Amino acid sequence: MAHFQFLVGILILLSALADGSLHRIPLHRSPNFKRTREAIVAEQLYVDHKYNLNTTANGFPMEQLSNFNNFQYYGNISIGTPGQVFSVQFDTGSANLWVPSAQCSSPACVQHKLYYSNMSSTFQSNGSVFDITYLEGTVAGFMSQDLVSVAGLRGVLQTFGEVTTETGTNFLNSSFDGILGMAFPPLAVNLVTPFFQNLYHHKLVQQPVFSFLLRNNGTTASYGGELILGGSDPALYRGQLTYVTVSNPEYWQFVTDSIQMGNTVISRGSAAIADTGTSLLLAPLAQYTQIAGIFKVNSLGYFRCRKISSWPTLNFRISGVSFKVPPQNYILQEGAYCTLAIVSSNQEFWILGDVFLGLYYTIFDVGNQRLGFANVNSTGSTLGQMGVFTMLLSFILLKLWVH
Ligand SMILES: *[C@@H]1O[C@H](CO)[C@@H](O)[C@H](O)[C@H]1NC(C)=O
Ligand SMILES: *[C@@H]1O[C@H](CO)[C@@H](O)[C@H](O)[C@H]1NC(C)=O
Ligand SMILES: *[C@@H]1O[C@H](CO)[C@@H](O)[C@H](O)[C@H]1NC(C)=O
Ligand SMILES: *[C@@H]1O[C@H](CO)[C@@H](O)[C@H](O)[C@H]1NC(C)=O
Ligand SMILES: *[C@@H]1O[C@H](CO)[C@@H](O)[C@H](O)[C@H]1NC(C)=O
Ligand SMILES: *[C@@H]1O[C@H](CO)[C@@H](O)[C@H](O)[C@H]1NC(C)=O
Ligand SMILES: *[C@@H]1O[C@H](CO)[C@@H](O)[C@H](O)[C@H]1NC(C)=O
Repeated sequence: MAHFQFLVGILILLSALADGSLHRIPLHRSPNFKRTREAIVAEQLYVDHKYNLNTTANGFPMEQLSNFNNFQYYGNISIGTPGQVFSVQFDTGSANLWVPSAQCSSPACVQHKLYYSNMSSTFQSNGSVFDITYLEGTVAGFMSQDLVSVAGLRGVLQTFGEVTTETGTNFLNSSFDGILGMAFPPLAVNLVTPFFQNLYHHKLVQQPVFSFLLRNNGTTASYGGELILGGSDPALYRGQLTYVTVSNPEYWQFVTDSIQMGNTVISRGSAAIADTGTSLLLAPLAQYTQIAGIFKVNSLGYFRCRKISSWPTLNFRISGVSFKVPPQNYILQEGAYCTLAIVSSNQEFWILGDVFLGLYYTIFDVGNQRLGFANVNSTGSTLGQMGVFTMLLSFILLKLWVH
């Protein structure tokens, strides 16, 4: 018995120590998040614009949106000295960091935390401007540099966007202040080094790897998941990891073997993108049309409900392994009608947001340009939450053994 306790103690101790190289950022799930048909349509519009931006000319992923609440996960970063805390969406579908500037008086800015460069002793001006004009609005600002830190890490000097004008956008009620892009450098506006690459170049993380646990089932004010910088945590997933090579290192893009809805093959060899900045699944138009046909979706996006579990499972085959998305995860019911959390996009690749990423722990391996997927350990509570406790416990167990 004592031997067993000793082993357990050592194991826990080792994992607590190994934990030192992982930097954990708790993610909150928006208290306002509610999946409705209206929100799905608004988000579809947003994502389409995000992927259609002319990134050589502009590239900040901001667009009109009738409901910007529909973003689930966000966490804190700190900018400047002393640190000014901002909640940001960690977005693997874009590559720049931006926050609202103290010089911004647009309503959408005023409702959020503003960055005061004059209150930071480490601010350095950059001044290159950006100005994105949309059909119904404008987002404009300039670049600045300051120390940016997360998860208690030392800050790195990072170039980021200060938004000074934000009109015609409905960023109004978003639960976060800004966006921190985690895609590859070629996607970044003005060729700014993205934050994670910057952290790694400064040796603040040991491995060029980050990973996301997004809890579909997290509650509002509490634990929505976590972003780990510098590696991944095996306690957060179960079973094997499946790796797939990034086929085009701008987005986190890879090639699927096949995608099936039940027994119907929707595509073979389609590209897909892992995008933590989206809650939905977006499919290329022709493939979406095929799926909509199965459900007899009407022009308003609804179809007649029946027992949800009687609908087929959506199955992504990646590197020879099935990643299933059950109907409970991609169908939502509004009264007598149902709608899909799968929508069409103008892109020729799938965009896999929280509907998929909430089921599968995802490792973004920057160094090896590959993605790893595994089942979320849904019984797991994290070492991050329990670090001190497990540490104590292991010492107690160790003491017991020594006696
Ligand atoms: C994208 O940017 C390039 C270079 O600035 C420009 O020539 C092109 O017209 C732009 N395309 C669109 C759709 O705005
Ligand atoms: C962010 O920091 C604020 C305090 O500055 C804290 O109240 C909040 O819980 C933090 N949010 C997250 C997601 O960690
Ligand atoms: C910093 O700038 C803001 C507006 O940009 C201004 O209201 C404030 O007074 C300034 N604070 C200091 C200490 O200069
Ligand atoms: C502004 O930032 C860009 C991107 O990091 C850099 O290329 C440029 O040299 C900077 N300009 C100044 C004046 O610091
Ligand atoms: C923002 O929130 C306010 C009050 O909570 C609400 O009245 C308003 O309709 C919301 N606006 C949007 C665009 O969601
Ligand atoms: C969500 O979590 C609760 C409590 O942990 C559990 O009872 C419930 O079955 C979960 N729901 C889903 C859909 O996973
Ligand atoms: C899943 O989490 C539970 C609770 O923390 C833990 O006991 C279990 O070992 C984890 N599973 C794996 C495969 O790590």
